[in-house]
Amino acid sequence: MTDCFQSRAPLLEVDGLSVDYGLKGVLSRAIDGVSFVLRAGQSVALVGESGSGKTTTAMAVAGLLSPNARFSSGEVRYRGNRLPIDNDAGMRPHRWSETSVVFQGAMNALNPVHRIVKQIAEPCIMKLGMSRGEAAARARELLELVGIPSDRGAAYPHELSGGMRQRVMIAMALACRPSIIIGDEPTTALDVITQAQILKLLAELRSQLNLALILITHDLSVVVECCDRVMIMYAGRIVEDGTVAQIFDKPKHPYTRLLIESIPNPASGKRIIRSIPGDPPNLVNRPSGCAFHPRCPSAMAVCTTEIPRLDTVGGERVACHLHRSLALDDKVAAHA
Ligand SMILES: Nc1ncnc2c1ncn2[C@@H]1O[C@H](COP(=O)(O)OP(=O)(O)O)[C@@H](O)[C@H]1O
Ligand code: SF4
Ligand SMILES: [Mg+2]
Repeated sequence: MTDCFQSRAPLLEVDGLSVDYGLKGVLSRAIDGVSFVLRAGQSVALVGESGSGKTTTAMAVAGLLSPNARFSSGEVRYRGNRLPIDNDAGMRPHRWSETSVVFQGAMNALNPVHRIVKQIAEPCIMKLGMSRGEAAARARELLELVGIPSDRGAAYPHELSGGMRQRVMIAMALACRPSIIIGDEPTTALDVITQAQILKLLAELRSQLNLALILITHDLSVVVECCDRVMIMYAGRIVEDGTVAQIFDKPKHPYTRLLIESIPNPASGKRIIRSIPGDPPNLVNRPSGCAFHPRCPSAMAVCTTEIPRLDTVGGERVACHLHRSLALDDKVAAHA
């Protein structure tokens, strides 16, 4: 990957991770061989249509998968050490202290009968062993950090706007000083202006605290502001992974191209936005070969039978038969 984070040591390494869900006796594969590296301070967007496996990837990394999930292969390493992702108790020391998650619509998960300062102080007491007084002081510091005056800490959740409540959730996620924050559609339930403010806050916190960020979104247009890199997911696999410039200026995968064409761009004066034809696949009955082939305008015969590998092409990763010969050229050059 040609980005400025390349020289930094890996913080998180996800290696060939596959997860199945069991439902009514049927196992379906939600993510299949997902691999990526996240470095300190780097921010990566995980983008794809609903059901493409973004949340499953994030929850697997944080050890927060639902009980009907099963790891079928792969591993996750944090600072080089293998994480016990399939062991809830084993993941407890890691969760919130090293990796924190801000969930979609998390603001509605605040306890309505407790003041927000108390709710932010809670993880400081439970995880960091602070006294009540120390935890309350830390909670007020965290409120200021996310742009809420600390005297608002006495408020109950219903006294705050949706944007303010999402800021409280971000403060809670930061309470134990994690090095990785995962935002799973953290702005989806908010209006456009508040969404922009929250994304700006995440970008500021990231540089101020040298956080690594995984931002999950189905909306490719929001990643430009706060991400260095974009990973595109389709049917449980990463199909393209490049810097923001590589993805937006020269997308290689036909699915990425269609996603970009479906972003409204008032500046271009274009009135017609192309939508992606067809529907995302049913994972119980995944299409053969490249899972995108029934919707792909460039599909060839080989696409219906052979799963394309995620190869390195021109400094990024792409899984598409259109780029197979270029990937081979890259491999030959690498060994020359
Ligand atoms: N708890 C679950 N039980 C069964 N299937 C699930 C569960 N959670 C997610 N899935 C399925 O796994 C696939 C990936 O889902 P998910 O990771 O939530 O995707 P995304 O976040 O991209 O929308 C989807 O087909 C979804 O229906
Ligand atoms: S492998 Fe084939 S079907 Fe899949 S994206 Fe590439 S050209 Fe389209
Ligand atoms: Mg999701």
